Order: sequence, then structure tokens, then C-alpha cells
Amino acid sequence: VTAIDPDNPTQIRPEPTGIRSESLRTPALESYLRDRRQEIEHHLDQLLHPEPDIPPSLLEAMRYSVLAPGKRLRPLLVVLAAEVCARQEQAESPWPAACAVELIHAYSLIHDDLPAMDDDDLRRGQPTCHKKFGEALAILAGDALQALAFQTLAEGYPPALAGSCCGVLARAAGAAGMVGGQVEDLAGEQLQGSTERTLAVLEGVHLRKTGALIQAACVLGGLVGAMNEKNRLEALRGFGRCLGLAFQVVDDLLDVEGNCDQTGKRVGKDAARGKLTYPGLLGVGRSRELARSLAQEARDHLAHLRLPHNGTPVARLDDLVTLVVAREN
Ligand code: IPE
Ligand code: IPE
Ligand code: MG
Ligand code: MG
Ligand code: MG
Repeated sequence: VTAIDPDNPTQIRPEPTGIRSESLRTPALESYLRDRRQEIEHHLDQLLHPEPDIPPSLLEAMRYSVLAPGKRLRPLLVVLAAEVCARQEQAESPWPAACAVELIHAYSLIHDDLPAMDDDDLRRGQPTCHKKFGEALAILAGDALQALAFQTLAEGYPPALAGSCCGVLARAAGAAGMVGGQVEDLAGEQLQGSTERTLAVLEGVHLRKTGALIQAACVLGGLVGAMNEKNRLEALRGFGRCLGLAFQVVDDLLDVEGNCDQTGKRVGKDAARGKLTYPGLLGVGRSRELARSLAQEARDHLAHLRLPHNGTPVARLDDLVTLVVAREN
């Protein structure tokens, strides 16, 4: 556990060093991801259809945020984990689970950007939901997306599987998961110069605010792939935990090293707001190393999921780990 040195401000405001480009994308992976993203967006579009009782302004705000160009990492993880685990005769469609996790993610972004939270005006390259529709509608669009996520699971699967999926997603999204992490992320802004800014505290924040949902995406993929076996779900949990933490370490790095055109959001905000971040505590170089070693740990968990017939999806998940660490947006 490393306490930050309040007398050494360079620990808090690291110098940008430029983005390292080391993408290992292959044309085959590119086209696989493009196709899956298109399918994900098609299913999201279908879920966000007009109904007589839905106020058009609310639906417009929900569609604006969900269908804006995101990377769709969490639904991709659901789909890939489901493919890794699929037993042909039993597997359920991954789409309800993939959409549910993206809907929760979209709601979390709308609320994360609100003036009472990170107070951001740009998201996915466009004005944030509250800038476009006002705060009240943005809050309510987030609320409605959260409800729609659970409705999608409840209506998309047989009762027992729907119940398991709702439990996994609710735990990850709720007070002990994403929302709890967001509370501590905001509380961390008040700890500037305090000895409570430690790596242990930071890891706990990031594992909850971001890691929990990424981990849940992997577990949901396992559940809908019908691989409801303790050991395999445990491997997916371990994989998702390491990948989720690596993802937020890179998000912190992009706020220091990235630019607005690539990320589609403002950069340099974390240091300005006094957020507790990995580059802030460890510096850029050691944060990069940590992201790489977490990626390796994620791959070690993946090795436990390898079976004679699932080499291709396992290799794709492996490539996705590489993309998460090398990403520039
Ligand atoms: C941004 O998530 C918020 C975090 C949890 C770090 P993403 O980087 O996955 O955002 P989109 O979905 O691609 O916009
Ligand atoms: C956001 O973390 C986590 C959630 C939305 C739950 P950040 O606040 O770092 O995400 P960005 O940088 O605004 O996308
Ligand atoms: Mg935030
Ligand atoms: Mg934010
Ligand atoms: Mg961030």
C-alpha cells in the first residue's frame, strides 16, 4: 500500500508523454468486431422503440445516449464469453444480456456526466445528455435505462436464467458495485493531500465503479452460454476482474495522455478535479506497466477456459485484452 506524498505534487499531476500505439488488430478480428458491434447496435435500437406510454422526449434522450458511438466493450464481452462457454444444444441468445449490460453502462455514463458528479459537457464525441436535454430529463433517462436493462433480462430468458442474470447484474450495478464505487470516486476528490489516498483505496474504487460491470458482462456471457459450472464461472470472474481494473487504469491514462478528438470526451479533468487515479498515484509509466500486468493476469484466467472446441473465441477474448490495454479511445 503506497501513501501519496502530499509534498510531491508531481505524483498528483504527471506529465503527458504521448500515447503508445501498439494495436495488434488483425483484419479478421476487425471484421468480427465490426459485425458484432453492428448486431449489438441493431438489438439496442430495437429495444428503444416507441410505445404509447413512453414520452417521446424521454425516448429521444435514451436513444441519444445509448446509440451514440461507443466501443460496446461490455456487450462484446457478453457475446465472446458466451461463445467461449457455448454448448450448442443449450446456449441461449446472448443479445438480451449483452444489451442489458450496455443499457446499465449508458445510464451510468449519463449520471457520471451530471453537474453533481463529474460535470462533463462531452461524451462519445457529442454534448452530454444533460447538456442536450436538461438535467431532469437526463436523470430520468438514466433511471429508465436502468429499469429497461432488468426488463430486458426478465423478458429475454426463461425464469431461472433471467433470475440469475438479474441477480448478477443488480449486484454489479448497485451499492456494493458501480454505484458504491461512484460514491467513493466522488469522496476521493475531497481527500487531496490525505494519507487515505492509497493504492488499496484506489483499487477498491476502480474495481467497483468500472470493474464490477465488466466482470458481470463476462459472467453473464458464461451464464447464457449455459456453462453454469462453478469452476468456469470462477475463471470468468477472475478474468473480468483483472480486465475491468486494467480498463479503468487505461481510462485514467487516457485522461492524461489522450486527446479529446480520439476519446470523444474532455481530457485532463481528473487532475483538475483532484480525482484519485493511477497516474496520479503511480505516474504514467508504472500505471502502463500495471495495465500490462493486469492484462497478463486476465490471460492466465482465460487459459482455464480453454477446451478442445473453443480455440477461436478464446483467442478473440485474448485479442480483446490486448485492445483494451492498447486502446486510444
Ligand atoms: C467509459 O467507458 C466510462 C468508464 C467506465 C471508464 P467506455 O470507455 O467503455 O465508454 P464507451 O462506451 O466506449 O463510450
Ligand atoms: C466512470 O469513470 C465510471 C462510470 C461511469 C461508472 P470516469 O468518470 O473516469 O469515466 P469517464 O472518464 O467520465 O468516461
Ligand atoms: Mg466519474
Ligand atoms: Mg467521468
Ligand atoms: Mg475517466
